[in-house]
Amino acid sequence: MAKVYLCGSGSEAIEAAIKLSRQVFFEQDPQTRRVNFIARDTSYHGVTLGALSLSGHIERRAPYRPLLMKNVYHISSCNPYRQRIEGESDAAFVARKAAELEAKFLELGPETVIGFIAEPVVGAALGCVPHVPGYLKAMRDVCHKYGALFILDEIMCGMGRTGLGGGYQPIGAVLITEKVFNVLQKRGRFVHAQTYQSMPIQATAALEVQRVIREGNLTDNVSKLGEYLGIRLKAVLGNHPNVGDIRGQGLFWGIEFVKDNLTKEPFDRKLDVAENIKNTALLPPYNMTVYAGTGTADGVNGDHIMLAPPYILKKKDVDHIVKVISAVIKDVFKKIIS
Ligand SMILES: Cc1ncc(COP(=O)(O)O)c(C=O)c1O
Repeated sequence: MAKVYLCGSGSEAIEAAIKLSRQVFFEQDPQTRRVNFIARDTSYHGVTLGALSLSGHIERRAPYRPLLMKNVYHISSCNPYRQRIEGESDAAFVARKAAELEAKFLELGPETVIGFIAEPVVGAALGCVPHVPGYLKAMRDVCHKYGALFILDEIMCGMGRTGLGGGYQPIGAVLITEKVFNVLQKRGRFVHAQTYQSMPIQATAALEVQRVIREGNLTDNVSKLGEYLGIRLKAVLGNHPNVGDIRGQGLFWGIEFVKDNLTKEPFDRKLDVAENIKNTALLPPYNMTVYAGTGTADGVNGDHIMLAPPYILKKKDVDHIVKVISAVIKDVFKKIIS
């Protein structure tokens, strides 16, 4: 990536990406017909109206639907647990997804599409669902075939996971290629600034976080212990009748809960399964924070939790997390089922 635009949050970064993407085409042709975005179901891109328009998170959109952008079209997410046809290979699954994107381009008219946006690992909306190998390249190829932009939202999963600032300072960023930058530089100016933006203290904190990660080789720890966390979660919880799927990457793992493991039927929303697990985990003797989410199965029904431990954790911490979280899950389901 050639240039970085710093801002204060993930939502701000998405808002900037929306306007910047449109401007790339406007600067080349003020009469451009490129006005549409393609995004995905069960996705989350932020709270502001533009970012929420891209989001496929039904519940978070609901109260504001009449206010959202009308030129955003959603296709299915990349969720093998719920979408893979029995016996379908990764390559066939990816080809099906790329065909769906291409069909949407053709339906809208390829010359009307600004770009396609996706989370490489879906966060809040699906619970740590990584993309299937080959998916990103296939989707990018469709975008480029029609001259549209391919936009990745790594706000939750990027930079080893916790973003630029590691939680120490609010910061967001849009990274653009040389090609996109050249269009903006030669033909116009990206007039999208807030009174207080790109503050030195934010940038200093983000740089320091990146230095600590690099010098401590922490992304190696994330990969190694992330793999171990996945293995341990699957070993301890994989056969639980109400655990439908355990998936993730690095230190970013999700557990999806189902009423029936065979049919993948979700629980009744009134049971508040994910919230129950989160609230139980917070209490003694567990004392653990997890991120709870709903809508996992179809945008409305379904429950998941996400685990996102710190990069500095050790093997014994992984063992502790798995022990505690499995005890919480068993405890909550004993109450729900009885
Ligand atoms: C994928 C993704 N995009 C955008 C956002 C919005 O970021 P922020 O909450 O910093 O505005 C989030 C927040 O969780 C996110 O997960």
